[in-house]
Amino acid sequence: MPVLTAIGERFAAERPFDGLRIAACLHVTAETAVLLGALRAGGAQIALAASNPLSTQDDVAAALRGYDMAVHARAGVDRETYYRHIHHALDIEPDIVLDDGCDLVNILHTERAELAVKGGCEETTTGIIRLRQMAAEGALRFPMVAVNDTRTKRMFDNRYGTGQSTLDGIMRATNTLLAGRTVVVAGFGYCGRGVAERAKGLGARVVVTEVDPVKALDAALQGYAVLPMAEAAERGDVFVTVTGNRDVIRAEHFAAMKDGAILANAGHFDVEIDVRGLESLAESVSFGIRGNVDEYVVGGKRLLLLAEGRVVNLTAAEGHPAAVMDIAFSAQALSVAWLAGQSLGPGVYDVPEAIDAEVARLKLAAEGIAIDALTHEQVEYLHSWTLGS
Ligand code: ADE
Repeated sequence: MPVLTAIGERFAAERPFDGLRIAACLHVTAETAVLLGALRAGGAQIALAASNPLSTQDDVAAALRGYDMAVHARAGVDRETYYRHIHHALDIEPDIVLDDGCDLVNILHTERAELAVKGGCEETTTGIIRLRQMAAEGALRFPMVAVNDTRTKRMFDNRYGTGQSTLDGIMRATNTLLAGRTVVVAGFGYCGRGVAERAKGLGARVVVTEVDPVKALDAALQGYAVLPMAEAAERGDVFVTVTGNRDVIRAEHFAAMKDGAILANAGHFDVEIDVRGLESLAESVSFGIRGNVDEYVVGGKRLLLLAEGRVVNLTAAEGHPAAVMDIAFSAQALSVAWLAGQSLGPGVYDVPEAIDAEVARLKLAAEGIAIDALTHEQVEYLHSWTLGS
């Protein structure tokens, strides 16, 4: 992660976080460790909780404890422990919070509303949807920076990161051949688009389901079959939910599926596949027929649920590769530094465009890729409204 490492070195020299306490609720991965290392180098005191009960890499958690960070995370914890860990991270009484999915911010507005926070950054689409709703209702009590909405995050992390790591998780869990199979992708946002592109690249027939007419049209014009889930359910060999909404695959769909259908979720929360509904419909369940694979028999047909319906790319694989997290977490690190220097009121704030551009410039430089610069005449032309044809 050369860009994030260079930012960490800059932080070490400038110490933008001296005296600040940061509580983070992020997937505990090697890439997260590099982000927190950069913030620590900048002077922050750090407490970390996991943003998913299954995604923690225990070796990373142990290593971070050795770097003087309070880490409250363990792979496979139950729901109660997961939330207790977030409370422990908040015991640091943070000035700044980093969230991935809005669970930590939610607790700061419900059970820990006594804690005064300067502001925070949110990493993922699901979290931003919640924050915007809180802001619209006047409930959000401090500023939150929408790191997810940067161009660099959406274009690279959501598309290439989620696209590749989701298929990586499905392949590691099942070792299934995707070529010639029908992969149903529910949701054609940035993440869904990435999953669809990668599946197509592996030779799958891709079917997209959508509720947004513009996204559905986009999928159709990109050559994907677009169908309602009721029809896609009968055709799919592999199903991937990436919508951010609940019950996208539910009882009527399970009943229509083929024997051997594989069900995976790449959305942040485990609500997209109605696992409770699947449990009550199933005649029998065999847990752990392989790592991260549970077999449900419905109407005599075997349905294979991956990673308990939790985020498959971080549960059955290692999340996004470091090369793409270098971009997303560099935007995150620079956003934290920007936030630390501001005095903002409650609300959801876009990351300044300059940060987006800086991250892309640094990444290009790290990759040894040169680009053109506008000539003086071109700059003038772009600022003129009198020059026509
Ligand atoms: N989200 C997706 N991939 C990730 C990774 N490798 N580390 C932290 N958060 C992630």
